[in-house]
Amino acid sequence: EPSSAASRGPRELAAVGFANSGLDEIAGVGADPKRGGYSRHGFDRVELELREWFTEQARRRGLDVRTDRNGNLWAWWGTPGKGAIVTGSHLDSVPGGGAFDGPLGVTSALAAVDLLRDKGFQPVKPLAVLVFAEEEGGRFGVPCLGSRLLAGTIEADKARALTDLDGTTLGDAVRAAGLDPARLGRDDEALATIGTFVELHVEQGRGLIDLGAPVAVAESILAHGRWRLRFTGEGNHAGATLMGDRRDPMLPAAQTVVAVRQAAKAVPQARATVGRVLPVPGGTNVIASTVDMWLDARSPDDAGTRAVVAEIAAAAREAAAAEGCAVEITEESYGDTVVFDTALRDRLAGWLGGVPALPTGAGHDAGVLAARVPTAMLFVRNPTGISHAPAEHAERDDCAAGAVALAEVLERLAG
Ligand code: GLV
Ligand code: MN
Ligand code: MN
Ligand code: MN
Repeated sequence: EPSSAASRGPRELAAVGFANSGLDEIAGVGADPKRGGYSRHGFDRVELELREWFTEQARRRGLDVRTDRNGNLWAWWGTPGKGAIVTGSHLDSVPGGGAFDGPLGVTSALAAVDLLRDKGFQPVKPLAVLVFAEEEGGRFGVPCLGSRLLAGTIEADKARALTDLDGTTLGDAVRAAGLDPARLGRDDEALATIGTFVELHVEQGRGLIDLGAPVAVAESILAHGRWRLRFTGEGNHAGATLMGDRRDPMLPAAQTVVAVRQAAKAVPQARATVGRVLPVPGGTNVIASTVDMWLDARSPDDAGTRAVVAEIAAAAREAAAAEGCAVEITEESYGDTVVFDTALRDRLAGWLGGVPALPTGAGHDAGVLAARVPTAMLFVRNPTGISHAPAEHAERDDCAAGAVALAEVLERLAG
């Protein structure tokens, strides 16, 4: 029986009410009046409060909540063990992010548990809801940190030394959250419990608007990464320094921003962004001594993304030299193209009555796990097509449709 929106009864929709009401419950947590939207970052006060909220919600449902070595939260229905069906997402956000990116996958997972319970379903395979730590990299700079640590795609030493804007290391942050930083890193035992992972996520583009459908399965994720460009010049006085005497790192930084646009336009389907610039010391009447700038670059394949970054690096070096400045470029994170398991994807699409498959330009923990375990994603329509901004949205009916779809998938996989 296809799980189309039309075939859903009122009882089914009521049982998945938590997909929406859960978001309502956390609507006040981490709201950011300065930026708009939400600022919820890995292991900060706000994210810890959301974790407590999740733990409480999971316990109310009789789930057994455990924290893994890397600070990811697992809520088990049944005895933890190999071959489990695992679903979930993250509770952190980008600075000034939307309400749905992350939390919708968590509230929908709990709502799916509610619906399956309501139906009297007893999972044959263990089932777990998983909340990943620091998915956006909004605090420590590396996205999908919890899943990368779990899967071993970031070195534990490198991770421990990651530092936030206040100078707190990830090691210190996890210690403050009650974890042992020495135990961070690849966790094959936890990974081996995952038979299949499914993440539900708000769509971050216009795919489902254009198709006129509430739910899709994911096809692929772009090859993407982050680079820090550090331009170094000479700090000096804005009034006393003649224009010809300056080595101002803001100049090559600005020229590089223009080069970013040009480089991305030269490669089909590439995207490149500078969303964060940090002049040091940052005074109106001060020529900066250094400017740090972060580049996010993506394209359908590794070669395209590497070509965009190489072009930008060449432009940055040329612009720096012309101003008598130096530039240092550091890759902070990278992930190659992800093509989700096509057989699994097609099975999901079929169970859901033939929903469409969509590629995405966004990164996800599911993309990190896909290299190690069978993984799939469901997308829920976003009527604004906007994400990583307060305008990100999903209608309540579509959230309910997503949770019903997730329940259908979990029932088939775990039954
Ligand atoms: C995460 O959402 C990303 O794609 O940057
Ligand atoms: Mn995001
Ligand atoms: Mn997300
Ligand atoms: Mn993401």
